[in-house]
Amino acid sequence: MNHLIQVQKLNDEALGQILRELAELAFQARFNVAPNPCVGAAVLSRGQIVGRGIHHYWGGPHAEVEALKQAASSSTPMGEWDTMVVTLEPCSSTGKTPPCVDAVLESGIKHVVLGSLDPDPRHRGRAVELLESAGVEVTVLNPGLGPNYPWGLPDLAQHFLDWNQVERLRRPRPWNIAKWAQTRTGQLTPPEDIGEGRWISGPDSLAEVQVLRGRVDAIVTGIGTVKTDDPRLSVRAPGDVSKPPMRVVFDSYLHMSPEARMLEPVAPSALDAGQEAAGPVVIFTRPGPEPVRTRELMAKGAEIVALPPDDDGCLSLWAASEWLWQRGVRRSLLESGPTLVKSFMEHNLVDQVRVYSGDVSGGRGTSLASLLAGGRPKARLHRECGPDGVLEYFR
Ligand SMILES: NC(=O)c1ccc[n+]([C@@H]2O[C@H](COP(=O)([O-])OP(=O)(O)OC[C@H]3O[C@@H](n4cnc5c(N)ncnc54)[C@H](OP(=O)(O)O)[C@@H]3O)[C@@H](O)[C@H]2O)c1
Repeated sequence: MNHLIQVQKLNDEALGQILRELAELAFQARFNVAPNPCVGAAVLSRGQIVGRGIHHYWGGPHAEVEALKQAASSSTPMGEWDTMVVTLEPCSSTGKTPPCVDAVLESGIKHVVLGSLDPDPRHRGRAVELLESAGVEVTVLNPGLGPNYPWGLPDLAQHFLDWNQVERLRRPRPWNIAKWAQTRTGQLTPPEDIGEGRWISGPDSLAEVQVLRGRVDAIVTGIGTVKTDDPRLSVRAPGDVSKPPMRVVFDSYLHMSPEARMLEPVAPSALDAGQEAAGPVVIFTRPGPEPVRTRELMAKGAEIVALPPDDDGCLSLWAASEWLWQRGVRRSLLESGPTLVKSFMEHNLVDQVRVYSGDVSGGRGTSLASLLAGGRPKARLHRECGPDGVLEYFR
């Protein structure tokens, strides 16, 4: 793209103002994008913003691509776009989406202003090099990652900085989101006479959970939940049914029934209509002979994986995490009863929490209220979803 216009440079104060506005927008999506960073981008023409975008959800288009898309639908022709402002160095490798640096280069933009360099040592500075070697001028406002301007990376995406620390990169595992619905007293099972003894949250919350299921690689539960609720753990509309996540059950003694609903195929009518889809079933269990049950479950399509026990005699959650990582699971949703949630928490394997509090008094089973009271929640958000209260935070 041959640009005929001059790049109009803004001063640092004006750029800081744009970055702050983009950062505030991007931060609103923090729980949908994690473990990715919150990123906002804008395309400018002669000092005016002609397209804005943020990274909305994990696996979805990045902020730069969204901003370029919005600019393309503006009345300003591509040949007049001169600058891109983006809160974080664009990605330069293919992940869930193609590298953003390619999209920036294709747009013909001549000046890129970055809020911060990529903190990941494997990628840091690479996009800058690629852009500069293609003749694009790059200005980095905050090379040291410190808070040089309000809403620097530590404010905007501390979860991403923590997730990219060297010690964690050495032992890779999926990002785990623990999600549950609880009564006012923190119990995950309502009184028997409410919600068929099973449902705590309302239809809006249930629909949100389907969307969340469509944006993870695995849904994890324990045999306690399978025995009591017999869930399908499928993805249903409005969730994205195009790549249904793997369904994982922790079941030390292979108590799972071959008749469990999880092992039934999705009804062809729902599948064909794009209303429901279900991923493969994996059962983590102890090593040891359960040949008949193993055969029955495998005949129903389940994969049986033997895991070593931990020091406490339970299936090793770390070994499970490593197995899941090897299988390509990067973002995982824990939808179990209180026993497995507590285990994951105690092993520091929960990165993000989403709790729906229903308008229900009392309840049965262990309360997780004390779990919510402890720890140091980060970037906490309280919101409403229909009649339910929702609490989200990073651990
Ligand atoms: N409100 C909600 O969001 C929600 C969600 C799900 C379930 N629930 C409710 O929760 C209740 C079931 O609770 P639950 O605590 O029994 O079920 P759970 O947490 O789903 O499953 C617990 C079982 O998982 C197995 N397990 C295997 N490895 C483990 C490990 N490393 N750490 C911990 N457990 C491990 C254990 O059985 P083995 O020793 O036999 O392997 C353990 O008893 C039901 O009433 C259900 O309706 C509520």
